[in-house]
Amino acid sequence: MAHYYMEPSRTFSEFLLIPNLTLKSSTPANVSLKTPITKFKKGEEPAISLNIPFSSAVMQSVSDHNMATALARCGGISFIFGSQSIEDQAAMVRKVKEYKAGFVVSRSNLKPEQTLQDVLDLKEENGHSTVAITEDGTSTGKLLGIVTSRDYRLSRDALDKPIHSFMTPFSSLIYGKAGMSLPEANDLIWDNKLNCLPIVDEQQYLQHLVFRKDYDSDKENPLGLLDENKSYIVGAGINTKDYLERVPALVAAGVDVLVIDSSDGYSEWQYETVKWVKQNFDVKIGAGNVVDREGFLYLVESGADFVKVGIGGGSICITREQKGIGRGQASAIIEVAEARQQYYEETGIYVPICSDGGIVHDYHITLALAMGADFVMMGRYFARFDESPTKKLKVGNNFVKEFWGEGSNRARNWQRYDTGGKSGLVFEEGVDSYVPYAGTLKENLDKTISKIKSTMCNCGSLSIEELQRTARITLVSATSLVEGGAHDVMLKDSTMSGE
Ligand code: IMP
Repeated sequence: MAHYYMEPSRTFSEFLLIPNLTLKSSTPANVSLKTPITKFKKGEEPAISLNIPFSSAVMQSVSDHNMATALARCGGISFIFGSQSIEDQAAMVRKVKEYKAGFVVSRSNLKPEQTLQDVLDLKEENGHSTVAITEDGTSTGKLLGIVTSRDYRLSRDALDKPIHSFMTPFSSLIYGKAGMSLPEANDLIWDNKLNCLPIVDEQQYLQHLVFRKDYDSDKENPLGLLDENKSYIVGAGINTKDYLERVPALVAAGVDVLVIDSSDGYSEWQYETVKWVKQNFDVKIGAGNVVDREGFLYLVESGADFVKVGIGGGSICITREQKGIGRGQASAIIEVAEARQQYYEETGIYVPICSDGGIVHDYHITLALAMGADFVMMGRYFARFDESPTKKLKVGNNFVKEFWGEGSNRARNWQRYDTGGKSGLVFEEGVDSYVPYAGTLKENLDKTISKIKSTMCNCGSLSIEELQRTARITLVSATSLVEGGAHDVMLKDSTMSGE
């Protein structure tokens, strides 16, 4: 006979935190969000900790090398999507590991025969006012010149004017040579009053740009997540089908943590994959997703360094509608966290858990942490920022970014569905969508982090571990949900979201 769980499964929005005593020392400046991501023995330090409890989802529309460097700079981690060729994914990992703070790959590039209109279009699209002009219009082509807003005057110049007629040509540029250090690049910037210094190799091919403002902002990121060689820490998604080839390539590229990306991780496929990786490589690996005690313990037994929790809660996810599997995200975290605690008490081994999917409001993150998650994984949240891999588009009067599920026809990532045999599902588990464009990662993260720290002060907790130990969490009734938003008033700004 089937086993029944008659308690309804719950989502984050059905809970609130009850404040604990706030001491005078409970200030946001005293709160640490440092959190383990890989398992460790009692009394020992985890091999890898995050400085903020955020990871970006293993998705084409979320986590590429640009997102990974930007998030690591802020103290979190990205898992670069695995639904691409092994070579392309390894190249992205390599780019993150080789990234030198302050040296950026040029994001605005055009050819000399293109026009002023093309410059303006590109500026409108990505907001950058410095455009590298290369022979082939790519970020690594032969550098022929630079265009900034000082090179044209809209009231005078025709829009079809070719770029080569007004760019600052290479012969007049001050440039840096490949291999130079950041202090050397900055000396050139300051001595010559530049905003941007192109770095080229011996054949004049563009390698990086160094911006004056980036140097300053890098100094503002003391939480950057670095390995012992001062390279950013990066994760990558793998699947249970081609891991024999994919994992060696990712390890050779320098990946720090792998995660098996799957909608349902309670499978022999995952068990075998984790075991094989652990036997053959000295690399960390997370597994998932699971939503209950049994699934968690099974993956821990396989050797997983962390376990990812959540089925069907993702914003673009239609798994529950299509297959009828899943569980409310809060219920899943609560049960898995209990199993993790018991396992810790019995064995002295702490296995971090990641709450994946379904974070809608910032306070959901705090709730997930209070319920026992050590970090969260988010897709929709990060897809909205400049640093995600998709283009910013204008739809009606709004700027949006595209965001599609890994189980959608667009991503065609059938490898994440462990049904055995050859992949090739005939139905989708995700949708293709837009999300509102929200600006830069850093400005949004700063706001979210302020909210989390502020709530933790209300709860009298100066660390995530303390929050997990002391949080008091209450279920709310459907009627009190109404009370929670602005109510019984006429809002002046009808766009107010309540977040
Ligand atoms: P979000 O933060 O609510 O957008 O959820 C992101 C999470 O949704 C990812 O980390 C995955 O676990 C999950 N996900 C990604 N693509 C799909 C899909 O196509 N179907 C179901 N779940 C997905």
